[in-house]
This record gives sequence, C-alpha cells and structure tokens, in this order.
Amino acid sequence: MHFLQSLALKYSHIKMQKDLNKNLNISFNTNEDFKIPTKKSYMLYMHIPFCHTFCPYCSFHKYYYEEEKARIYFENLRKELHFIKEKGFDFHTLYVGGGTTLINENELLKTLELCKKLFNIKKISCESDPNHISIEQLSRFKGLIDRLSCGIQSFDNEILKKITRYEKFGSSEILQEKLSKAIGVLPIFSIDLIFNFPNQNKEMLLKDLNIAKSLSPNQITTYPLMKSNLTKTIITKALGTSLKDNEFEFYKIICEFFKDFKQNNAWSFALQKSDFNDEYVSSNNEYVGVGSGAFSFLNNRLLINIFDLDDYTKALFEKKDANIAYASFEKKEILKYLFLTELFSNKININAFNTMKNCNLKKVLNLEMKGLKACNAIIEENDNLINTDFGKYLCLTLMKDFYIGMDKIRAVFRENKHIYTKNNINIMKAKLS
Ligand SMILES: C[S@@+](CC[C@H](N)C(=O)[O-])C[C@H]1O[C@@H](n2cnc3c(N)ncnc32)[C@H](O)[C@@H]1O
Ligand code: SF4
Repeated sequence: MHFLQSLALKYSHIKMQKDLNKNLNISFNTNEDFKIPTKKSYMLYMHIPFCHTFCPYCSFHKYYYEEEKARIYFENLRKELHFIKEKGFDFHTLYVGGGTTLINENELLKTLELCKKLFNIKKISCESDPNHISIEQLSRFKGLIDRLSCGIQSFDNEILKKITRYEKFGSSEILQEKLSKAIGVLPIFSIDLIFNFPNQNKEMLLKDLNIAKSLSPNQITTYPLMKSNLTKTIITKALGTSLKDNEFEFYKIICEFFKDFKQNNAWSFALQKSDFNDEYVSSNNEYVGVGSGAFSFLNNRLLINIFDLDDYTKALFEKKDANIAYASFEKKEILKYLFLTELFSNKININAFNTMKNCNLKKVLNLEMKGLKACNAIIEENDNLINTDFGKYLCLTLMKDFYIGMDKIRAVFRENKHIYTKNNINIMKAKLS
C-alpha cells in the first residue's frame, strides 16, 4: 500500500466517523408519520431480537430468548405488518435479521406466510445460528425461505472456545457435519466467517477458508472483526490483543483465495453473482424496517423503530407507528451514502446512477471521485466506475465504520428505555453527539 492509499484510508475513516457522529442529527418523532410509500415496491427488513446466548463480539440488537416474550413479539410484528399494509406499502424482497431468526420456527413460519399473503414478496432471506439448521428444521421452510445465512465465524476450535461458541454450537468437526447436511436444503446457503481475530494467523485463516469452500455453500461472507466502543473491551478479554493488525494483509489473502468466485460485494463471495446477499443496504436504496430496533431508509430519512419490547407492544396496542426517531439528510449526504453502498458492490454505472438519483455524479461528488482516482481506488471505464483491489478494501473499511456507527445508535437507544420523557431525550442526544 503506498502513501496516498494509507492517507486515503485514514482520511475516509475520520470523515465517516465525523459524518456519523456530528452530521447524524437525530430528532425524536412525536406523532408525525414518515412511513409513507412514494413508489411501487420496496425491500422489507424484519428484526428478530432473540438469542439463547450472547457472543462476546456481537452488538446486534437482541434479548435473551424467552418463549412467551418471543410469542408476544411475533404477534406484534404481525400487527405492524398489517399496519404498513394499510398504509399502502408493497415489497419485493424480505430480509429477516437478528438475533437468531429461526429461534421459534412456528412463529416465524406464521409470520413469513403472512408476509407472502399481504405483499408481493418474491424472495426471502433469513439468518441463523448453527443450532437451527437440521434437515428437519430447514425442510419446514422449503418454498418460503430462498436464502439462509448461517454464522460459523471460524472452524478453529481455539477461536470457537474463546468466542464461547464451541459449547453452544459445537466443535469445528460438528459444525462441518451440520453444514454438510444443511447445504442444499434451501436454494441459497451462505456461510458467515469473521477474519482478523486477535492472534489469528495466516494458516488459521487459510484453514477456515479451505473448509468453508470444501463444503460448497452458494455464498461465503468474510466479515472483518468489527470492534465498537461497546465491544472492544469484551473482545480483548475474550481473545486478547494482537501486536499487528492483519486486516489488509488477510483481506488480500481472501480475495486471492476466492479469485475463481464471483464477488457480490467487498466481503461476499459466491459461486454465482447475486445481489441477494446480507448487505441489503448496497442493493436497495430505500427500505422499510419492522420490529424492535429496526431501521428504515425512506424519502431521505433514516427512521428508527422503538427498541424496548414493552414500548413496542404499547405502541402497536395503541395502533401507533413503531418509529420513534429519525435523522434527515442533505441531498449531497444521501448521494455520498448511495455512492458508497453501490461502490461496495464493486461497480457503479454513472449514467444509471444519474438517472436513478436525478443527479450529476461527476459534478456533485467531483472532489471525492478525484481523490478516489488519485489513490487508485477506482478506475473509470466505459461510463462505469470500477473498484480496484485497493478500492474494495477501502469500501470494506468504510462499511465496517458505518456498521460500527450504527452500533452506537443502537446502544444509546437500548440503554435508555421508555425514552418518551423529555429528560431522557436530552441525555440521549448528548450521548449521540
Ligand atoms: C446478526 S448475526 C446473526 C447470526 C446468528 N445469530 C449466528 O450467531 O450464527 C450475522 C453475522 O454477523 C457477523 N457479525 C456479528 N458481529 C460481528 C462483529 N463484531 N464483527 C464481524 N462480524 C460480525 C457474524 O458473522 C454473524 O454470523
Ligand atoms: S452472533 Fe448470533 S448468536 Fe451470537 S449474539 Fe450475535 S446474533 Fe446472537
């Protein structure tokens, strides 16, 4: 990596943090309805915030699973789905994320069936841990779930022990056995791995990649370990620290390893190229989120749903929208966000981007594009902007920063339950700035 490239990485990291911290001006929604459809069809995101146990690196929004709590939650989800149907929304794709989405199969089945009944949903993607992927369990979802991603994280028994997944989900050998039976039951199966764990070396990484590839899943996602302020101490306690950060070196190894695969985005590799992968933000400019703690991106606003489960129940009982807060953006900020999310999928067609977003990309992001070209992150070819190898890495680090920034929002909202009081809102605003 040359000097200009390390400078570009540092600059973009600082800029992204600043944008997320300072420019994300969150307001609290008292009664205004921002969830109004302006086009035909959207992507729907549904959050299932339950896990049996928690992993030390994970800061996704979740609660410990209790059957009764989950049953009430799914009932509320179905109420929210009816609510957005009444507003006139329709959806082409559904992403169910968590947590562990298959944690209560009966309730999930009922809810997915309702989604298909209410909307013209053609594709459904779900996430699971390795304890819900037996042939019997997955067979119940045939014809309903089109894509399943399963968190494996590593096939190294020492790492699995440190991240407390060895006892919960099984040793490397058991995981391989579970996966070999599960892959092929549903149309697309994706294995999630994490790389750049402290003290992970090149051999350990290659072993993970080789095992994942040998199981022949349709997709493999390799997330760089993301450490937010909330998780970094817990991660250090569980995994120790490394003297050297291997993220860039390991990413080069991963790209080289998957050179005969199609790259769906900077961290997802597939046997067949598809925009049906976990990073729905990169293939869907606007989306609606349902469920506790879900985000929506609609009409230039980021909308945040209620986090606390009792507040969520109360809002739906009162037939109120579950949206409690929002952030509005300037047009240039939106274009930068869309530019990053599209570039994350490796290629932008300038003409299509301009038409879709009603802008002149070269004019409005002139400086940003010059900077990216100068550090050899993108090249321009026949009206296309294409990521170079360095560009892919830059996008990976920016997406990582973006997710870490979202973590902070989640944490502040989760910490401050029943946020309707004025005093609480001021405390939260201070924490978010
Ligand atoms: C929301 S989790 C749900 C997966 C499922 N509950 C499981 O544990 O297998 C989706 C994936 O995000 C990734 N992930 C979660 N926290 C991460 C972190 N701190 N750094 C990198 N990847 C992370 C993991 O690969 C995980 O499998
Ligand atoms: S990685 Fe999966 S099982 Fe572990 S805490 Fe996160 S969502 Fe739950």
